[in-house]
Amino acid sequence: MIKRNLFFLAMLMVVPVQVFAWPWSTDMMNQPSIKPQEGPPAVFPQRSVPVSGIPTKVKDRQAAEKLKNPFPATAESLKTGKTLFKIICAACHGLTGKADSPVSPKIGAIDLTSDYVQETLTEGWIWGTITFGSAIMPAYGVPTREVGGSNDLSPEERWHVVNYVKKQLVKDAAASGTASIN
Ligand code: HEC
Repeated sequence: MIKRNLFFLAMLMVVPVQVFAWPWSTDMMNQPSIKPQEGPPAVFPQRSVPVSGIPTKVKDRQAAEKLKNPFPATAESLKTGKTLFKIICAACHGLTGKADSPVSPKIGAIDLTSDYVQETLTEGWIWGTITFGSAIMPAYGVPTREVGGSNDLSPEERWHVVNYVKKQLVKDAAASGTASIN
């Protein structure tokens, strides 16, 4: 008898798990509310203008040269920039940016901690380089570029990378001799 009771008890513990998998257990998800990409887009109030003003429509790198970085180099921005740098730029330019990855010499990737990049190139030019690519370097904002074109980085993400390259890369590279970069 006790054995059978134990059996039912065990069954009771199993059954609720099954219940959650029944078709009606997603009922709460399917509501009449409007979900993203559903229904007509909201109408902007009359005379409203965009204020964030992230430049996305420049035609080439020359046109980008004088752009000002709309994102201050906050801790948050530098963190995002560093993450993206490690994912995308480090393969060619090295984790430290000093052109010390195994492929750097093969394709002629330059040292991003050099005076040339740090002093001579403007933030806008670096943003433009990431956007449109360079002679060999692929483009990360122009998917239509024939060789090596993609839009892997949004305009905003590119500015965060610029912040990282200009404001923290040299410091990180200097520290890398004593501690690991993470
Ligand atoms: C596939 C390899 C590759 C990747 C990935 C790459 N680069 Fe480059 N980069 C190069 C090469 C090669 C050069 C030098 C030749 C040239 O200008 O194309 C270069 C040049 C540059 C220059 C100098 C441009 C100039 O006007 O002289 C900058 C700045 C730069 N890269 C930044 C970056 C940043 C930031 C990233 C990450 C978003 C990145 N690169 C990703 C290969 C790469």
